[in-house]
Amino acid sequence: MSETKSKEVPLMEKITSLCKRRGYIYQSSEIYGGIGGFWDYGPLGAELKRNLRDAWWCAMTRDREDVLGLDATIIMHPAIWKASGHVDTFADMMRECTLTNKRVRADHVDPQSGTVMQYSGAESPTGWKLTRTFSALLRQGEHIESFRKRVRGLLALNAGEAAGAVEAIVLSGEEKGATVENSVDFHPETSGLLNEARPFNLMLSTLVGPTATEENRAYLRPETAQAIFAQFKNVFDSSRIKVPFGICQIGKAFRNEVTPKNFTFRSREFEQMELEFFIAPDEAIQLIHGSVATWSETADLSTPQPNWGWEMWHRYWVDQRTKFYATIGLGTDVLDYYWQQPADLAHYARACVDILFKFPFGTEELEGIAARGDFDLTQHQKHSGKSLEIFDEELRTAAAKLSDAEKQAFTDNVISAWEADWTSKGKSGDEARAAALTFCEKLLKGTYLPHVIEPSAGLDRLALAIISNGFVEEEKADVNGKKELRTFLRLHPKIAPVKCGVFPLLKNRPELVTKAREVNALLKKHFNCFYDESGAIGRRYARQDEVGTPYGVTIDFETLGEKGPELADTVTVRERDSGAQERVKIDALVAYLTGRLA
Ligand code: GAP
Repeated sequence: MSETKSKEVPLMEKITSLCKRRGYIYQSSEIYGGIGGFWDYGPLGAELKRNLRDAWWCAMTRDREDVLGLDATIIMHPAIWKASGHVDTFADMMRECTLTNKRVRADHVDPQSGTVMQYSGAESPTGWKLTRTFSALLRQGEHIESFRKRVRGLLALNAGEAAGAVEAIVLSGEEKGATVENSVDFHPETSGLLNEARPFNLMLSTLVGPTATEENRAYLRPETAQAIFAQFKNVFDSSRIKVPFGICQIGKAFRNEVTPKNFTFRSREFEQMELEFFIAPDEAIQLIHGSVATWSETADLSTPQPNWGWEMWHRYWVDQRTKFYATIGLGTDVLDYYWQQPADLAHYARACVDILFKFPFGTEELEGIAARGDFDLTQHQKHSGKSLEIFDEELRTAAAKLSDAEKQAFTDNVISAWEADWTSKGKSGDEARAAALTFCEKLLKGTYLPHVIEPSAGLDRLALAIISNGFVEEEKADVNGKKELRTFLRLHPKIAPVKCGVFPLLKNRPELVTKAREVNALLKKHFNCFYDESGAIGRRYARQDEVGTPYGVTIDFETLGEKGPELADTVTVRERDSGAQERVKIDALVAYLTGRLA
């Protein structure tokens, strides 16, 4: 038995086709030609997502005592996005094609070679006219006539009905320009000359209220995180919880991605699962515990300790998230880690690691885990004018035990550390000293703004990772030695959409059907089951294998007691991956499956 798991692009096509054929994922609005970057989840996809959401929610909050949940609105006060920096800086650098106005991300332009063809304009007998100059690349090996046809086609597509027939369009003032090699100045699809890169804000907006004025502009959230920061104080005040603690949320996010691609990997509407874990600043830990635990390769990350600073907490969450992925079938053999270099880091971030998954189209980000300092709460405190600081009695008591000289020494140390840090980032030393002094004065009274560790994962990316990881094509010889290709989804039982297929051996034997319906009713109270009585039993198994159902229960003649009383009321349970079969008593079935589906 040999297993083939090709990592070439065609694998992605097989996965996309399976997703559509079996009801995992469909293109949104498909009957109208689809809409780029939007995807719908069919019956099985909806169940898979629900299982993944539940697994994440349990691991992140229900199974813990230090994380609480939140379910905030998609549209929030626009000031939130000003404070977070999204209005001003949440942008990709984009370039526009001078031929079609089609945009492309500046860092997504592949090099092309050929001859630049320049035109003074174009027109058609319908009266349509393009009066500006434009250029496009006659690609190496492309015939000039097919090139002109292609350019006319692109112009027609852009102009719509006004341009009339493609063949009737006349290109004016054609001139041959320079020959270029490996140039990144031409659109990868159209080969039209690209203009200079400009920032393009990724937020989708709408108007809220009866008047269509700019004051009513509101945004569809580009991340779920900001609601957590905005509600931080409410959750803290209403929950009798202490730092360190977290607030997590699962919900939709929207980004006007310029080049949505790789199936659901980069979508315009997607779901995020985010945790903001609030911790005390290292200086507070130093005051309370006398020192801050430092990370080393041998550090024990299993149980959080009171003297952990941001670095230990950051490492802890990377470890926790890795363990979570193992529980749903993504082991470290299919994951990778990218520790962002100082140059990659956002200005406020102290560290960020991307957990990557080996997708068929490349190893790409599944989740980011960032140590964001107190940037977000500082911004919201500043923009809202509301204090988001918390008071910590343990800290106040520890500080009160220090002599004046010790307090001064502590403050001096903090000031010089901040000054060195800020100036190394090109910021003012004077401002660093003033900020550090205010911070120490408050800290010594037991007050501070918590810092944050943020594990932020994408649910749609995770669903895609789970499906591509589970996709297996296996060549197997049948009883006559003939080789057959078997396709199945090796999903972890915990997250499989359907847990159990229920099959009467034969559809035309009412006793088998009645018994199978009874078994189905029994199991349905506990698991998502699929009852199927049509076709040969082998084909019914294969259909369930293809969608990742881990178990199949067959009601056969043994069940009816026709092969001896000792087998009466037993069923055949078949396991998906091995095909191994076992006889199980019906009244032991729920316990049998429960033990294997966790
Ligand atoms: N609050 C931090 C934040 O939003 P991000 O790296 O931009 O960070 C976090 O997004 C996660 O959200 C990513 O790791 C990815 O899984 C998912 N994600 C981001 N953009 C996405 C998109 N366009 N389509 C699908 N998932 C996306």
